[in-house]
Amino acid sequence: MEQVELGWNDFWAEIFRVKHRRSIQGIQHYDKMVVDFCIEALGLKKGSELLDIACGAGDQSVEFTKLGINVTAFDISERLIEVAQECAGDNEVTVNFFTGDMLKMSFEDQFNGAVLLSHSFGFFNHEENMQVLKDTHKALKEGGSLFLDLMNPYNFPKFMKTWTALEGGYLLSEPHLLDAPAGVLRGRPATFIDTDNNRIVLMDEDALSNNDIRMYTALEIRAMLEEIGFTKIEFYGQNKLPRMPYSSGSERMVVVASR
Ligand SMILES: C[S@@+](CC[C@H](N)C(=O)[O-])C[C@H]1O[C@@H](n2cnc3c(N)ncnc32)[C@H](O)[C@@H]1O
Repeated sequence: MEQVELGWNDFWAEIFRVKHRRSIQGIQHYDKMVVDFCIEALGLKKGSELLDIACGAGDQSVEFTKLGINVTAFDISERLIEVAQECAGDNEVTVNFFTGDMLKMSFEDQFNGAVLLSHSFGFFNHEENMQVLKDTHKALKEGGSLFLDLMNPYNFPKFMKTWTALEGGYLLSEPHLLDAPAGVLRGRPATFIDTDNNRIVLMDEDALSNNDIRMYTALEIRAMLEEIGFTKIEFYGQNKLPRMPYSSGSERMVVVASR
C-alpha cells in the first residue's frame, strides 16, 4: 500500500475536521446546545452581529444564522470554508464566510459578540495569543462580549487511542500528550487508512506541530483579559445550559467577558 504524508491543512481539514467530526453521533445536537448557551451568555438577539473566529466547517455559524443572528465567520483553512459555504447553501442561509487568519484581524467596533468554539484558542506563542484577544476586543462594539469555549486544564478529556470508520476509510487517532513544563497540549497524531485510494495517509511534521495548543488556567486567562481591558469576566463549567460554576473537575472552562 502506498504511504503519503499530508500537511496540516489537508489532513486536519478534510479528514479530521470534516469526515471525523461529522461521523460523531449527536454532534448536531451538541452544536445546537452550544449555540443556545452562547446566545444566552452573550445576550444575542435576532439581528445581532456575531463574529465566529476559526469557524471550522461552519456548523455552529449556520445554527446561529438559522436563529436570526448575522454571522461573519472565518477560518484559516480554505477547504473548511468551502465546506462551510456548502453547509450554508444546504440550509438555505447566508453567512459571511471567508478564509482568514486570526493573527491578522482588522475589525473595529463591529460585533455584539465573538466566539472561539471547541478550544480554538492558544495555537500560538503567548504574545500572539494575546494579540488574538486584543484584536477580538477591538472587533467588539462597546458592551459586546466574547465567548471562549476551552478544555479545562485541570480536567482534560481522557484521550484514548481510537479507531473510527469514516467515509472512504478508517482513522486511527493516538491520544494527545500534555507537555507539562511547556504548558502545551501536543497535537494528536493520526493515521488515515484511505481505502478509496488504497493508501495510508500520515501527518507530516508541519501537521503535527501545528496542532499544539497552549493551555491557560483560569487565573492566567483572567489576567490576560483584564490587561486588555475586558470587564465582567465570568467562568462556567460547561458549554451548554444550565450555567454551571467552573471548578477543577468541570467538563469545560468557558469564559465570557465584555468590552
Ligand atoms: C478545534 S477547530 C474548531 C473549529 C470550529 N470552531 C468548531 O467548533 O467546530 C480549530 C479551528 O481553528 C482553525 N485555525 C487554526 N489556526 C487558525 C488561524 N491562524 N486563523 C484562523 N483559524 C485558524 C483550524 O483550521 C480549525 O478549523
